[in-house]
Amino acid sequence: MNEFAGAAILVVDDEAPARRLTIRVLESHGFRCTEACSKAEALETVAAAAPELVVTDMKMHGGSGASLIAALRTEHPDIAAVMVTGRDDAESADAALLGGAYGYVIKPFALNELLFTVTGALKRRALVLENRAHRDRLEALVRVRTRELDDSRAETVKRLARAVESRDAGTGMHVDRMSGLVYRLARALGWSDDDAETLRLASLLHDVGKIGIPDELLLKDGPLSADERLVIQTHASIGHGILAGADSELLRLADVIAWTHHERFDGSGYPRGLAKAEIPMPGRIAAVADVFDALTSDRPYRAALPEHEALATMRADCGLDPAVVDVLEAILRRGAHAHGAPG
Ligand SMILES: [Fe+2]
Ligand SMILES: [Fe+2]
Repeated sequence: MNEFAGAAILVVDDEAPARRLTIRVLESHGFRCTEACSKAEALETVAAAAPELVVTDMKMHGGSGASLIAALRTEHPDIAAVMVTGRDDAESADAALLGGAYGYVIKPFALNELLFTVTGALKRRALVLENRAHRDRLEALVRVRTRELDDSRAETVKRLARAVESRDAGTGMHVDRMSGLVYRLARALGWSDDDAETLRLASLLHDVGKIGIPDELLLKDGPLSADERLVIQTHASIGHGILAGADSELLRLADVIAWTHHERFDGSGYPRGLAKAEIPMPGRIAAVADVFDALTSDRPYRAALPEHEALATMRADCGLDPAVVDVLEAILRRGAHAHGAPG
């Protein structure tokens, strides 16, 4: 018994005797056959009978076997096709193969020739389907792995951010609030949810370079001398040193933010004194969120500023990107309305 016995085959031929002969041969070898006498009838039958293979005559009234195979290619790509052609029509046999037929037989054909070609086509179809299933499984696996990798990178970033915070208990809430504001600014600037979330995670590490600043400076209560301030300022370059050359998009973005969140639009910032368009957008967004959260938080030397005063200060003398500050103001105004406070 042949290995594909029971396979459903649609036999298409506009000449009834030829059609019946083909069917008789195939059925005697265990195939289940349906029949059609034209391209149109074949396409109707395909929908109902769901054959694995179509054996079609080349020359038929109302649409050639080649055009039937072309239609099957697009509408039912899982159905294999075998072409039956006349001896005078070898060119169209080649065309049929190019058009997607899995084989052809030339009339008049020996019975085992037909069986050989049909079995070969069914074998090839099984292989194609198996390959596709294998590829689908691989792609699904790659998707899962990529997601796991994304998750583990986010996890690493969160833990690294926590390590920085552990140096200075006061900064924990700052990093949370600052990164939350980074997300809202990015969304309001038109970033996609995914990109804004990546930016939020990356901004958790904006002060990662503070790992390299001595405790006595980082935790100092009183005012800092000019020299001490210069040492604190090295945290931007130290952060860049830690994150530079990362493979992942998330860490590359974290590098950009760590390196540029103290650059100022007017060129007065550090470490490189970049100005305007020289400062990457993630750095400009992080700077606005960072400064706003610092101004609206209590400091040993001053109380938290109310939001409108913080905004005025940011506009007057913080050297921030005015367009990003505009967006912040719009967000705050929306928030105030949402909470029922006076506009
Ligand atoms: Fe910083
Ligand atoms: Fe900060």
